[in-house]
Amino acid sequence: METRYLLLLCLFISLEYAANGKVLKGTLQTNSDWTFFTRFCFLSKTGNFSYKVSYPERYGVQSFLLYYDTANQWEAVYPATDKSCTQKKEALDKNGNQEIRLDCTRSEINGELYYVCDHFRTFISARERWWYIALSKCVTAAGETPGMYLEYEIHMTNGDIEDYLHREYSADEFYIAPIAIAFLLANCVLLVLAIICAVILRARYLFHTTYKIFMFSLATWVLYLFLWSIGYGSYGNNGLEERLRQVKTAGHVFESLYEISFLLLLVLMAKGYTITRGRLTNISTIKVAIFFTLYVFAYAILIIWEPMFFDAGKVLYIYESPPGYGLIAMRIIGWLMFLYSFIFTIKHYPNKKIFFIPFFIFYTFWFWAGPIIILLAVLVMAEWTREKTVFGVEAFVAFCGHAFFLILTRPSAANKNFPYHVRTTQIGMMVESEQNADKTDLGEFADNPYAVSSENSSNSSGGPDLSYFVVSKERSKVSETESYIPQNNER
Ligand SMILES: *[C@@H]1O[C@H](CO)[C@@H](O)[C@H](O)[C@H]1NC(C)=O
Repeated sequence: METRYLLLLCLFISLEYAANGKVLKGTLQTNSDWTFFTRFCFLSKTGNFSYKVSYPERYGVQSFLLYYDTANQWEAVYPATDKSCTQKKEALDKNGNQEIRLDCTRSEINGELYYVCDHFRTFISARERWWYIALSKCVTAAGETPGMYLEYEIHMTNGDIEDYLHREYSADEFYIAPIAIAFLLANCVLLVLAIICAVILRARYLFHTTYKIFMFSLATWVLYLFLWSIGYGSYGNNGLEERLRQVKTAGHVFESLYEISFLLLLVLMAKGYTITRGRLTNISTIKVAIFFTLYVFAYAILIIWEPMFFDAGKVLYIYESPPGYGLIAMRIIGWLMFLYSFIFTIKHYPNKKIFFIPFFIFYTFWFWAGPIIILLAVLVMAEWTREKTVFGVEAFVAFCGHAFFLILTRPSAANKNFPYHVRTTQIGMMVESEQNADKTDLGEFADNPYAVSSENSSNSSGGPDLSYFVVSKERSKVSETESYIPQNNER
């Protein structure tokens, strides 16, 4: 019941509050004699397909053909361009009552005779399954207009008017709205905490670029969940598929911003940026820039092109299409970069292990959870549970990813893992020499010593433009003395 109120809350924001309950409305005109119309995943008992259609009688009698999602039915006829209309019709079960002839009544509209139908059909099948609806007219008799034409209003539902969580949704979409709303609320809490931490860090001059990226990532993720909550929430009310698709696409833009920025954050942190060094080497910068440019392109292609080529008749959800495979591949390449950077950093800053090892292990899960759950979904899950499972798991992983970062960077004096020791005011200062390190009071933060000599660091990476930071300590212990005196970085 509570979920229902949350959903209603979202509806206040959605523009169209009044339920009009039309899933599809429009006009279809085609020259072909068989065309894919729409699909819906019906529950085993309560599915209802209601249709109001009309078309001029001169087209001859057209039919809806209802295919279900098995190898000998839908998969046999779509896209199957080599099969004729009659062959496609033969794939239907002879006794299955799967053809709906659209010649219910005749009436005159605007001086022309029309066939008009206003009926519904309930679906009973052994399990939840997709039904694919095609429009066909295999035989054009002499004197009839070739091609097909249909004005339609179609409403497909899974449940009673009261059953808000199910009614308008295709069975594969059940519960996406409540999941989105629950995670939206949880992430809003994180966002508030992150803002509080940011204020504290800022006061201590520890509000680093990486933390800003983190906040950007979290904010875009919240926006993504917000859009999906609204999109699916109001879809549950009005069933307008087209609007849902637009809102989802807008959501994907924010989702991609989240993924790219969080991945960038992880790679930069693994490289020690703002932790062991203030800048990246030129080579690293170039590598990171190239990788992320590719990533942005991959996502742009996905978001812009994918809807154009998306074929609901073939692809059930995004991760079962080539752009989806591309995204998974990018994620794995991202992890390899993360791994490489981690090994490099840990080798040269062994004293930072206490931060980097938990960081690496945890975020390895972050990288792999998505690809693994997608693989599992394909291998073992029923088709109509895949999209929501993947969505739920991704939302959970993103939540944990942000929450863990927040915990790692919480500005608590007693936190040994705390990665930020260098103050933002020191970014831009170049290097610390051995002597300076000696001058600092290392004894006080022996728990966390990671001073690196400049000699060491330049040997280690071989990069010409290294810039490292040496130790700072927690603000509480800094006692306002400058323990690092910037030095000329010439060697
Ligand atoms: C199916 O939907 C139509 C139109 O919304 C409605 O009139 C009809 O009663 C429904 N049938 C069932 C069995 O729910």
